[in-house]
Amino acid sequence: MTHRPPHILGLAGSLRRASWNRHLLHAAATSVPADTTMDLYETLAEVPLFDEDQELATPGGPPGVRRLREAIAAADGLLIATPEYNHALPGVLKNALDWLSREGQVLDDLPVAVLGASSGPWGTRLAQASLRQVLHTCGALVMPSPTLFVAHAEQRFDARGRLCDPALQASLSRFMESFAGWIDRVTPDDRLPDVA
Ligand code: FNR
Repeated sequence: MTHRPPHILGLAGSLRRASWNRHLLHAAATSVPADTTMDLYETLAEVPLFDEDQELATPGGPPGVRRLREAIAAADGLLIATPEYNHALPGVLKNALDWLSREGQVLDDLPVAVLGASSGPWGTRLAQASLRQVLHTCGALVMPSPTLFVAHAEQRFDARGRLCDPALQASLSRFMESFAGWIDRVTPDDRLPDVA
């Protein structure tokens, strides 16, 4: 008997069409272990600015928030690729996490991994540190290691956004294998039931 194959949802903290972080998640989705599936959440832009008045006025939250919450609830793990804006996580990502920390609390006890790509030399170290702080506050079970900081992102992907750095590809495959292991380790048995 083995556990049901885990499903990972990828969330990029950038709305930019040619986002390096979205490219990184696409590469991650093709780097998961054989018994794991992954898809990307593509409509973060539909999450409105957090507003407690709107929260009170719309039980269940606005449609853009409900959809994100449901996608996360249906996943066994969340992989967040964050850009770095002014040495922290971007506002669109923090805004979404603020909504998610409220009704439903889908981040609580959720296995999460973080990585990130930036054009700078430090590869989102500070953004990931700030993101981890927020996720811990929301009760997420954040994979402590390995870490993956993608610096000089413009050198890692080709013109079509495909990962073209073999060393990074190897690190990403190890990272995804570790995340699948982390999900298996921290998920209670009744959430990943055995299959024959
Ligand atoms: C940046 N960028 C940036 N990079 C970095 O390494 N450290 C930083 O503090 C910042 N600050 C920053 C602020 C703002 C407002 C912007 C728009 C950009 C550069 C950033 O990492 C780069 O634009 C990435 O390519 C953004 O990620 P996506 O959109 O490609 O996923």
